[in-house]
Amino acid sequence: MNNLRLETPRLFLRLMTFSDKDELMKIFGDPIVMHSFGAPPFNAEQMTSWIQRNIDHQDLHGYGLFSVILRSEKQLIGNCGLEHMELSGNQEVELGYDFRSDYWGQGYATEAATAVRDFAFEVLQLPRLMSLIRVGNEASKRVSEKIGMCLVNEVSRIGIPYWVFAIDRN
Ligand SMILES: CC(C)(COP(=O)(O)OP(=O)(O)OC[C@H]1O[C@@H](n2cnc3c(N)ncnc32)[C@H](O)[C@@H]1OP(=O)(O)O)[C@@H](O)C(=O)NCCC(=O)NCCS
Repeated sequence: MNNLRLETPRLFLRLMTFSDKDELMKIFGDPIVMHSFGAPPFNAEQMTSWIQRNIDHQDLHGYGLFSVILRSEKQLIGNCGLEHMELSGNQEVELGYDFRSDYWGQGYATEAATAVRDFAFEVLQLPRLMSLIRVGNEASKRVSEKIGMCLVNEVSRIGIPYWVFAIDRN
């Protein structure tokens, strides 16, 4: 699946590479974005570890968080994709997304997440997707609602409350 690519009207999503690091720093090095995670901006070393973790996931499963490219500008503006994880003792697949703050509010996260949802259900035939969203992250909650997810639970991880949004293939 090396040239795996998802297409939408304004975007395409492709596998992530280390050469995306400078562009990804425009997301994870931005205090506005990181405020959503209650964390300070990444330094270069943290960015490398984050990419390595995603690339390890890609190597294992054939997909992970994709780099999202805005076709009109040939520019990486976000990441959106899938991550296998354990939650409350169950194996789950999370649909996740983070975008550059100067591109927010134009429907890009919803457009990318819709393509990833369809890939997960139609191509991978996964039975269910979930998103873990920090309580109070209204923009992310709205994106999950717009792609058909519903609030199914609230969990605490390291003392931080998260909404669990989910959608079944059926
Ligand atoms: C969450 C995020 C990816 C959304 O990206 P985006 O491209 O702006 O999303 P979209 O434009 O597709 O949709 C955003 C929706 O949230 C709404 N929204 C944005 N900020 C909001 C707020 N503070 N309160 C309520 N709704 C809000 C928008 O109005 C829009 O809904 P609408 O189309 O019904 O009007 C982006 O804000 C981001 O990267 N945040 C930081 C990282 C993050 O939180 N990632 C998710 C972790 S779970």
